[in-house]
Amino acid sequence: MLYSLLQPALFLLDPESAHTAAFRAMPLLTHPLLGAATRTALGIDQAACHRPELARTVMGLRFANPIGLAAGFDKDARHVAAWDAMGFGHVEVGTLTPRPQPGNPKPRLFRLPADGALVNRLGFNNGGAEVAAMRLLKRPPGLIVGGNLGKNKETPNEQAHQDYLKGFASLADVVDYIAVNVSSPNTPGLRALQDREPLQRLLGALQEVNQRRPQPRPLTLKLAPDLTDAQLREAAGLALAAGFAGIIATNTTISRSGLTTDTAAVERLGAGGLSGAPLTARALEVTQLLRAELPASVALIGVGGVMTAADAQARLAAGADLVQLYTGLVYAGPGLVTAICRSL
Ligand code: FNR
Repeated sequence: MLYSLLQPALFLLDPESAHTAAFRAMPLLTHPLLGAATRTALGIDQAACHRPELARTVMGLRFANPIGLAAGFDKDARHVAAWDAMGFGHVEVGTLTPRPQPGNPKPRLFRLPADGALVNRLGFNNGGAEVAAMRLLKRPPGLIVGGNLGKNKETPNEQAHQDYLKGFASLADVVDYIAVNVSSPNTPGLRALQDREPLQRLLGALQEVNQRRPQPRPLTLKLAPDLTDAQLREAAGLALAAGFAGIIATNTTISRSGLTTDTAAVERLGAGGLSGAPLTARALEVTQLLRAELPASVALIGVGGVMTAADAQARLAAGADLVQLYTGLVYAGPGLVTAICRSL
């Protein structure tokens, strides 16, 4: 498979340059002349992901299959058609903030190959919700698109809800569901919005505006794996009370425990969210915990360390209605989506 040749070349580049290079090549997947050959060479078979028995209705939306691209890969909604061609049933664009922002200084993305992991402190680099919304006017039919909302770095937490409301206003017409991201570790203070009072206020404010729409959107809340089990239950309860349609669990972790990579080398990378294989066990545990806590009417989107078809199956078996992945794509390549679909 072509990716086994491409990956060593990409891994010679620094991670953010590799991401940019792979990202720029995405339109090849839907190229009228080269698309089919490129997809075959990469082990992509969209038909395997469009088998009728894989389709499911979650949050009132029809998904071609339960596998989605997690937020952060295509923050600005540049390649939605290519994700569709790769076989995903949904893609979550963002995190988008009301105003464009550059994110943190580089380097800010690191590989831990021995652990099948990434560390990132990108800090919501994005072109702003309005610009992404314009791109989404031309989205392909069929694929479900979620819009993941955050706040600008310089917006104080007391005014954070205004940023989320602005993002909602920009995106609600052009996405199928909304994800409220209060769990990224790379915006100072953001995760404090997971505390009871600010969370209740934020979720309530968004739902109020949402319910005034002729067609309200399903709202989802994305949580951190570093919350205690009690905090997870509390946050899920607040989402349920606010009439949220789903929970996305989990975001990246600030934990560095259980890594194979040399501790000093890990420390040198500095702060950031860890994703990939080291997150698998905790994210699975959180899925199980939330499934036991929430009624079946609230959807669970399982994300974190889905690196193989077996990981995806385990997440679904634990009660996730949908599964998302990001880091698995970097280590296993775009054929992973097809492999998961074939295994289901
Ligand atoms: C992310 N993730 C993320 N999540 C989010 O809600 N908004 C974002 O902007 C980003 N950005 C981002 C960038 C990078 C480089 C990575 C690796 C991850 C988190 C992502 O959506 C997911 O929750 C975690 O990465 C866990 O899943 P994986 O990567 O282990 O499959």
